Amino acid sequence: MNPATLTEIIDYSRRHTLGIGMFNIVNMEFARAIFDASQETGLPVIFGIPERFMLHYYSPDCMALVCKEMIKHSKVPAAIHLDHGKTFDGVMIALRAGFSSVMFDGSSLDYEENVKQTAEIVKIAHAFGVAVEGELGYVGRAGTDELTPDSFTRPDQAADFVRRTGVDALAVAIGNQHGQYKGIPKLDFERLKVIRGTVECGLVLHGGSGIGNEDFKEAIRCGINKINIYTAMDLAVKDFTRNSFADYASYLDYTKDLTKIVREVVIEHMKLFASVRSN
Ligand code: CO
Ligand code: CO
Repeated sequence: MNPATLTEIIDYSRRHTLGIGMFNIVNMEFARAIFDASQETGLPVIFGIPERFMLHYYSPDCMALVCKEMIKHSKVPAAIHLDHGKTFDGVMIALRAGFSSVMFDGSSLDYEENVKQTAEIVKIAHAFGVAVEGELGYVGRAGTDELTPDSFTRPDQAADFVRRTGVDALAVAIGNQHGQYKGIPKLDFERLKVIRGTVECGLVLHGGSGIGNEDFKEAIRCGINKINIYTAMDLAVKDFTRNSFADYASYLDYTKDLTKIVREVVIEHMKLFASVRSN
């Protein structure tokens, strides 16, 4: 099949009341692992390509081609998504490379500038038939950014933001952060419910790694459609590499098992996100 748009993914999430995982791709092994996990579980998936990886670690065209070739043989919907596009040029590169979904993260801009730049991206992406995720509130990074109520998504602002930008999905800040949490994060579900009640678009939870299993389920019940995972895979491969690399006679065999490690982390999250499924 062709890559699914973010809108199709969100529709699926709504129809079945389940969360759909976005998993970031570090290299070919990660892409393989994410694809295999989706085929094994029969659940839709989102291949995440962060702007930072795409611009500094590999070619966006090559990685998009890898994903497209895999998706051709997929039995479940799968999207190729630009994660944290922070520049106009980065989003344009992703659109030209054939991504089926893009995030424009203007969360570090002041509110009016975030609205203005996101609306411009939406107009262009929609002309390509590509859906857009925006971010309001500031998710930030655990250990680097302070978690204050000011950084949380304001429900009244969310409604205004979605109306004025036309985004198809909104990344919310409700106590979630990127990277490795110190302890179990406490999510503001009441705020999430209010946001869900004020906007029609899909809702996205960034910084998924390290959130408690029950909190994931509650977040999905409260209206989260897409959940981003990266750190959990990163920690698993670092751990595996540290403990096992010396045991391998060949690098090739090591990469094969590394793919398995990533696949296991992806499957575990996909199954958890689907466990609240109502039909
Ligand atoms: Co993120
Ligand atoms: Co993330």
